[in-house]
Amino acid sequence: MTVDTDAPEADGRNRFVYVTAALAALNGLLFGFDTGIISGAFLYIRDAFTMTPLVEGIVVSGALAGAALGAALGGYLADRWGRRRLILVSAVVFFVGSLVMAIAPTVEVLVVGRLIDGVAIGFASIVGPLYLSEIAPPKIRGSLVSLNQLAVTVGILSSYFVNYAFADGGQWRWMLGTGMVPAVILAAGMLFMPESPRWLVEHDRESKARDVLSRTRTDDQIRAELAEINETIEAEDGGLLDLLEPWMRPALVVGVGLAVLQQVTGINTVIYYAPTILESTGFESSASILATVGIGVVNVVMTVVAVVLIDRRGRRPLLSVGLAGMTLTLVALGAAFYLPGFSGFVGTVATGSLMLYVAFFAVGLGPVFWLLISEIYPLKVRGTAMGVVTVFNWVANLAVSLAFPVMVAEITTAGTFWVFAALSAVALAFTYRFVPETKGRSLEAIESDLRENVLGGSPDGSSAGTVSDDD
Ligand code: BGC
Repeated sequence: MTVDTDAPEADGRNRFVYVTAALAALNGLLFGFDTGIISGAFLYIRDAFTMTPLVEGIVVSGALAGAALGAALGGYLADRWGRRRLILVSAVVFFVGSLVMAIAPTVEVLVVGRLIDGVAIGFASIVGPLYLSEIAPPKIRGSLVSLNQLAVTVGILSSYFVNYAFADGGQWRWMLGTGMVPAVILAAGMLFMPESPRWLVEHDRESKARDVLSRTRTDDQIRAELAEINETIEAEDGGLLDLLEPWMRPALVVGVGLAVLQQVTGINTVIYYAPTILESTGFESSASILATVGIGVVNVVMTVVAVVLIDRRGRRPLLSVGLAGMTLTLVALGAAFYLPGFSGFVGTVATGSLMLYVAFFAVGLGPVFWLLISEIYPLKVRGTAMGVVTVFNWVANLAVSLAFPVMVAEITTAGTFWVFAALSAVALAFTYRFVPETKGRSLEAIESDLRENVLGGSPDGSSAGTVSDDD
């Protein structure tokens, strides 16, 4: 059984969904802002304190390690405390982390601030998509959850602007402290937002869940959806060990595979090192900062395209087109760096392929990874499973960030981009083989496929056991 998503929905209901989604997406904004801001701030922090290379590395990458820890804890906490409460907690932790960094008298305190901030980033990275997927009506779930990724890209872009605004005089404390503003808005707003209806039912608060659903669904839709949620809850018992059950394996393979592939195809070497890469293509410093803003804009605009297309075209087509494009542009980028001299044409090819590479990431692997992991796990273990998968994403991110300078030194920039190209091709094959289509289907229908071992449709190609909404 699926929910009838075609029934006309009152304007007020839609508005409520969008307000809730926009607010919850602030989580994503903080995730993007706090990962992006360090690239600019670090230039001045380096002058403010005496640091060994190891400490420098920890200041830059500490938030990624903190995020891995936050994701590990956050999944469990989202299942225990509820999604809404964890968003509130993450806003408070964001605030504290930014404050500690902004006023840090010593580098040790700064590192503590970075770690705290990282934990908040880790919480936010899972609870944002999780909450959004559970309040969204199936028909627009892809777009709503992808708003989170859109907010991540807007956060990255705003961090570039804030870095630029405070660059004069090297005011790194203001750069890092600015993160307190969205944290306060998020916390204040979430006080008025409801808990996820699915989490409420699972915690025996069905009448409250009915209330929440009534703000976004018609009576018939509510009846159908509650019946579905109850059905899936009765069929399971939850716990970390459940993740090891054989029937969970396909969902784990998809989640962990995409988590690692999202990072080892190189996106954050561009997001974190764009000015350095651009400078080596012959740009002046100021032009490379401007071009970096250009990359941020392309990232945002193409994520908007994904938000619009993801429920119409589906997850698999966007992912496949995106990965094919990433593979080709990375080959071109490597070739540009391989050729001697960066004058004229070659410089243009390098910059053009860099922009296109980001565009292809933004339309596919960027949003689709976070969306799929919020859709394919059973309700009882959804938070925990997303937590585990997200830890892989952050650890892979950390590994690539640390390895990138070493790879450039050992196998040249061209070689490094070709390695990313090869891994993008692997990701394309992986998508073709393992990634299911979840467009238009209820979370419960996706779960029932998983239990019947036909995630992504039955072996004969049909979508067994459930009705999909394919218009
Ligand atoms: C990734 C981040 C990345 C961002 C870029 C996200 O989906 O998880 O690591 O920085 O996209 O837009």
